[in-house]
Amino acid sequence: MGIYYDESQKSFILQGRHSTYIAGVVHGRYLAHYYWGGQVKNPVVRQIDHKMGRPCTHAAFLKEDPLFSLDTMPAEYAFYGTSDMRMPACQIEQENGSRITEFLYDSYRIFPGVPKLEGLPCVYTESDGEAETLVITLKDPLLNVSLELYYSVFEEYDVVIRSAKIRNHGTETLRVLRALSMCMDYPEDPFEMISLPGSWTRERRIVRRPVVRGVQSVESRRGASSHAYNPFFALVSKDTNEKQGEAYGFSLVYSGNFYGGVELNQYENPRVVMGINPFDFRWKLAPGESFTTPQAVLAYSDQGLNGMSQTYHKLYQNRLARGKYKRMERPILINNWEGTYFDFDEEKIIAIAREASKLGIEMLVLDDGWFGKRDNDDCSLGDWYVNKRKLPNGLGHLAEEINKTGMKFGIWLEPEAISPDSNLYRAHPDWCLHVPNRRRTEARQELLLDYSRKDVREYIIQSISNVLRSANIEYVKWDMNRNMTEIGSALLEPDRQMETAHRYMLGLYEVLEAITSAFPNVLFESCAGGGGRFDPGMMHYMPQNWTSDDTDGLERIKIQYGTSYVYPLSLMTNHVSAVPNHQTGRTTSLDFRGKVAMAGNFGYELDVTSMSEEEKQTVREQVALYKSIRSLVQYGTFYRLLSPYDGEGTAWIIVSDDRKEAVAFYYQRLTTANPPMARMRLDGLDPDQTYVVDGKDELSGSQLMNYGINIDNQVVARDFSSMMVRLRAKDPDKAD
Ligand code: DGJ
Repeated sequence: MGIYYDESQKSFILQGRHSTYIAGVVHGRYLAHYYWGGQVKNPVVRQIDHKMGRPCTHAAFLKEDPLFSLDTMPAEYAFYGTSDMRMPACQIEQENGSRITEFLYDSYRIFPGVPKLEGLPCVYTESDGEAETLVITLKDPLLNVSLELYYSVFEEYDVVIRSAKIRNHGTETLRVLRALSMCMDYPEDPFEMISLPGSWTRERRIVRRPVVRGVQSVESRRGASSHAYNPFFALVSKDTNEKQGEAYGFSLVYSGNFYGGVELNQYENPRVVMGINPFDFRWKLAPGESFTTPQAVLAYSDQGLNGMSQTYHKLYQNRLARGKYKRMERPILINNWEGTYFDFDEEKIIAIAREASKLGIEMLVLDDGWFGKRDNDDCSLGDWYVNKRKLPNGLGHLAEEINKTGMKFGIWLEPEAISPDSNLYRAHPDWCLHVPNRRRTEARQELLLDYSRKDVREYIIQSISNVLRSANIEYVKWDMNRNMTEIGSALLEPDRQMETAHRYMLGLYEVLEAITSAFPNVLFESCAGGGGRFDPGMMHYMPQNWTSDDTDGLERIKIQYGTSYVYPLSLMTNHVSAVPNHQTGRTTSLDFRGKVAMAGNFGYELDVTSMSEEEKQTVREQVALYKSIRSLVQYGTFYRLLSPYDGEGTAWIIVSDDRKEAVAFYYQRLTTANPPMARMRLDGLDPDQTYVVDGKDELSGSQLMNYGINIDNQVVARDFSSMMVRLRAKDPDKAD
C-alpha cells in the first residue's frame, strides 16, 4: 500500500493491496483519471493515456494541444459548463446566475490515516499505519472556490475511498446544485452492471444487465436509501461470476437520497458517478462555508463477486461499524411482533420470555405497541412513555421479570416518526416535515419529524434517553416506517428548503451519534419497514439491520443472497417465524426456516408459548446448534456457492479466518419427479488440509473444493429442504 506523486509523469499513484489507481495533471491544469484496476507496478502513464482528435462537436481550446478536449479527457471530477458535456460531478450557481465552473489543479498533500468526516458516517482507521490519504486541491479562480478531492487506500483492503469538499473562499454566496462523491471514466470496457433493486418485503434482488449507450442508474428520491434501490452497484466483465473475473464495486456511505450511475458516452467510454442525489437538492454556501460529500467506497476484485463482497464485508465490519458489539457475538433473540402484533400485555410477554429462556434463547425484544395508547398503527408515535394499560408496572418491572428468566430485554422504537394522533403532534404540529398549505400525506398513519430542527433533535435525544434509562434495556430496534413527502422545514428560509432532506440525514446522524455514545452497552439494530435503510451509513451507528419484513424462509434466501453482495452476515438479522408464513402464506418446515435464518444474526419471531413440545424441542436444538457456529457465521468469510437465480439449489459457506473450520448450507427450492443429483463445490478451504466432514468422512480441501459434496437424496427430492455441513480441520495445529 502507498500513495506517491510521480513528478516526472505528473501523476498520483495509489497502490492498494492488489490494485492500483492513477490520476494525473494534464497541461499543468486539468486533473485526469488514468486507471483503476489490477495492480500495475511502476506505471508508465503515457502508455495508459489515450487521446484521439475528433473533428466535430468537440471543443478543443488549447492552442498547444489541438487534440485535447475536456469532453474526451477521462476526468477525476467533472465540472459543468466549460466543454465536458458528459454527466458532471458538480455544478455551482453564482449570484449572477452563472452555473459554470472550471476547477484547475492547485496542490496536493498525502498523510497517514483516513480523516473523519464531520457529521457524516465514515470508514475510519484505528491506527495511522493502516491507510493513507491523498488530498488533491483544485481551484476555480473566478469563483474563489476550492475543491478538495479525498482518496484513501488501505493496507488490508482493496478499496479506494473517495469524498469531496467544496469551500467558498470568496465574497459571494454560492449555491451548490450538485456535489457528488466521486466520478471516474473508464476506457471502452464492455461492462455489465449489477444493482440491488427491491421493494418492501422483496429487498435487494440482483439485477444484471449490459451497460449500453445512455445512462444506467440507481437512485433514491424517497428521503431514505430505500427498499427500492440500494446505494450500491458494480461494474463487471461479461464473464465475471462469483468465483472469477473482475468486479468494480461502488457503495455510498449514506442513508438518504442518492444517485449512482454509469453513462456510456458517444465514444463508448463509461463514466461512473455516485453521491447525494442532485434531484431536489441545492445547498447555499455562504463565504467561508464548506460542503462535504459522503464517502463512496470503491472496491476492486479480480476474484469475482465473492472477492468484491468479502472486501466490503471485512472493511465494513472492522472499519465502518463501531462500538462494543462490532465484533462481539450477537444474542439469539425472540421478538414478539409476528407472535402477538399489538395484542399483548405484561403477562403475555413474560410468559413468552419464560418459555423462550427454557429453550436457550437469550433476549426478548418487545416490539411495537408498548407506548402511548397504541393498539394499532394509527396513533402515539412520539409519545415515548409506557402504555400502563398493557404494562401496568412499567418497563423497569418488565425488564426485571425478563432478566429473572435469565434473558436480556430489548425494545422497539420509531423515533423519527410522529402520529397526527399523538400528544407530541398536538403540542407541536410544526415539528413534522411539511410545506405550507399542502396536505401532510400520511403513510402508515404517520408523518416524519423534522430532524433538520435542533429543538426536535434535542427533544428526541431527551425522550429516548429517558426510555433507555427507565429500565434495564440492552437492545434497541430503531425502526422507520415511511418515506418523505412534502419535504420542507418550518425553520428553514425559502432558499434553503432544498437542503431539508440532507439536513434531515445530518440531523439523524447527530441524534444517532448522541444516543449510541450515551448508551454504549446497548446493542442497536436499524430497521426501516424491514430493509428500507439497509446501507453503510446506518451501519456506522448500528451494527445490525433487520433484513426484511418478509420472514418466509424461501423468499429470504434470495433476499439474504442479494444483501450479501455488499453487507456482512453480522449486519443481517434473520428470524424464524410461524407458518403459514404471514407474508406469503407458504408453509415450510421449522428445520428449513431455521437453516435459512442461521446465516446471519439468528432469532425467532413467533409465539413460543403456542408451540408443540416437538417444535420446542426442535427450537432447543436449533438454538444449541447456532450457539456452536455463531462466531463463525457472524465473523467468518462468506462465499456464495450456488445462486437462487440459476436453479432450484442455493448454497453458501462460511469459513474461519484460519480456514480450520467451516459451515456450509444447501437449500432446495422445488424438487422435480426423479430429480437429478445435486452437488455443491465448496470454496475458501485450505486445499492441503484434511477436513473432518460432519464428524465422519475425512476429505481433503482440494476434493471438497474441486469435486464438492453430494447433496443428500432426501434433500434434493423434497421441496423447501436444506442441508448443513460442518467441517473441521483434522489437524488443527497444521500451519495454514
Ligand atoms: C416494521 C418492522 O420492520 C417490523 O419488524 C415491526 O417492527 C413493525 N414495523 C412494527 O410496527
